[in-house]
Formats: sequence, C-alpha cells, structure tokens
Amino acid sequence: MKIDLRGKTAIVTGAAGNGLGRADALALGHAGCKVAVIDVADMSQTMSVLKNEDITARAYTCDISNHELVEKTVEQIVTDLGGADVLVNNASILTTVGMFGDIPVEKWNRDIQVNLIGSANMSRAVWPHMHKHKWGRIIFMSSVAGTRGGAGQTSYASTKAGVIGLAKSLAIEGARANITANIIAPGVMETDAAMTFIRGDMLDRMKKSIPMRKFGRPEDIANAITFLCSDQANYITGQVLEVDGGSGLFVF
Ligand SMILES: NC(=O)c1ccc[n+]([C@@H]2O[C@H](COP(=O)([O-])OP(=O)(O)OC[C@H]3O[C@@H](n4cnc5c(N)ncnc54)[C@H](O)[C@@H]3O)[C@@H](O)[C@H]2O)c1
Repeated sequence: MKIDLRGKTAIVTGAAGNGLGRADALALGHAGCKVAVIDVADMSQTMSVLKNEDITARAYTCDISNHELVEKTVEQIVTDLGGADVLVNNASILTTVGMFGDIPVEKWNRDIQVNLIGSANMSRAVWPHMHKHKWGRIIFMSSVAGTRGGAGQTSYASTKAGVIGLAKSLAIEGARANITANIIAPGVMETDAAMTFIRGDMLDRMKKSIPMRKFGRPEDIANAITFLCSDQANYITGQVLEVDGGSGLFVF
C-alpha cells in the first residue's frame, strides 16, 4: 500500500521540538505533502530536517490560542503553499502536573485555551478551504489521559477529552464534504516533553505496565497519522486510535 499525498498541503502545529510534531511533518512530507509547521518556539531545527529531505516546507510563528493570528497565518499558508488540506492539531501544553486542588485556575484556563480552543481555532481556519475542495483531513492529538483520565493531570486530561468531542462533532459536520476528523490517543511516547515527567524508577514501573514493555517512538504516531490522512482511510472518521503498545488492555 503506497500512500501518495502529492499535491496536498499539510499543516502541523507544535512541530518545533524533537517530538511528535516534527515526526508527523517529516512523514507527511515523505508522503508528498508540502508542509507548513506552526509553533511559538524556534522551528529552525525542524526546518533543516525537512529541507535535508527535500521536503517543501515553511515555518510560521503563531500562538494557536489567538484566533485572529491563526486566521491570518492559515491565509498566509494558503497563499504560500497553495492550500490547507491536512491539519494535524498537535500543539499542546504538557506542563501542568499537580493534584487537582493544587492546579491554579489560571493554569486551567491556559490549558483549555491552547489545547482545546487552539485546536478549534486551527480547525475553523482550515474549514472553508477543505469545504471548497471537498476534501480534508483533520487529526486531533488526544492522549490516553483523555480517554482514561490521569491522576495529577486533571486539566491536561480534560482538554484531551475535550478534543475528542470536538473531533467527533467535526467528523459529522464534515462528512458530506469528504472531510474526515480522527483522533490519536498516544500512550507514553519517548519525547523530551514526556521524559521530563517520567524519571528514575517510574520509567521501569511504567514500562512494566505496558504489554509491549516499551514506550512508543514518534514514528509510531506519524505512521498512524499518515495513514489516516491518506485516501486509503477515506471511510474512517470520528475514530479514536490509541497508539499505546497495548497499555489499555486488561492484563492479569
Ligand atoms: N509524548 C507523549 O508521551 C504524549 C502522550 C500523549 C499525548 N501526547 C500529545 O502529543 C502531542 C505532542 O507531544 P510532544 O511530546 O511531542 O510535545 P512537545 O512539547 O514536544 O510539543 C508540543 C509543541 O507545542 C508547542 N506549543 C505549545 N503551546 C503552543 C501555542 N500556544 N501555539 C503554538 N504552539 C504551541 C510547543 O512549543 C511544542 O513545540 C501533544 O498534543 C501531546 O499532548 C504526547
């Protein structure tokens, strides 16, 4: 099965670091997409990785929680790269960790503003372009914290559950225009962001709780996303795909 996304433009948010966004941008570029990466952080390393692979790519500094800026940025991407066919809503704040009563209201507001409303802002901005071309793919990054909950992660988990509701609603609203919206819920992936929280003996304990006894790699997510963005996944929409090494299975 050869995935061919030539002629499409993909937007990947949160692709500055050595995490999932960069791997997604790379995989979609390898499948033939022109790629726009969006972040608030420096994207020069991601850009050199993409350019080294001869992928047509541009970087846009944009805070996805600011809807006016998002609208302007997406318009600029359409002008520069010719479209907005694929959107990977990957950007997220992962830093709020603490028991429920200890997470300040300001942190709750910011998590919701970036993780949930930011994904809605991006989706709203690409929506008319996808409707115009009667084709679109939107991927939302949730988490197993969103599908199952997570102690110490109440605000993060709430936003990650929220994007599932948003994605499923868009899946219904976009269906007749061939716009699909699907959700990836990763387990623990080996990215710098995740590894800052999981250290020492926690690493071993967590690995032992996963049937595959290992954390995922960014490529595991990128491969799933590339498939969901392909024509081979035409009839798949509104689905949550847990990419987690089997960590949600009942093991005894
Ligand atoms: N790594 C994991 O184990 C794991 C597990 C489950 C879900 N996820 C999800 O996968 C995605 C990527 O995770 P990662 O580990 O690569 O994280 P990461 O921190 O490396 O990537 C997130 C990126 O989002 C950017 N960002 C933050 N706020 C932004 C804003 N307002 N506007 C634009 N960009 C902004 C950050 O600068 C960062 O580059 C996230 O949505 C995360 O919730 C990751």
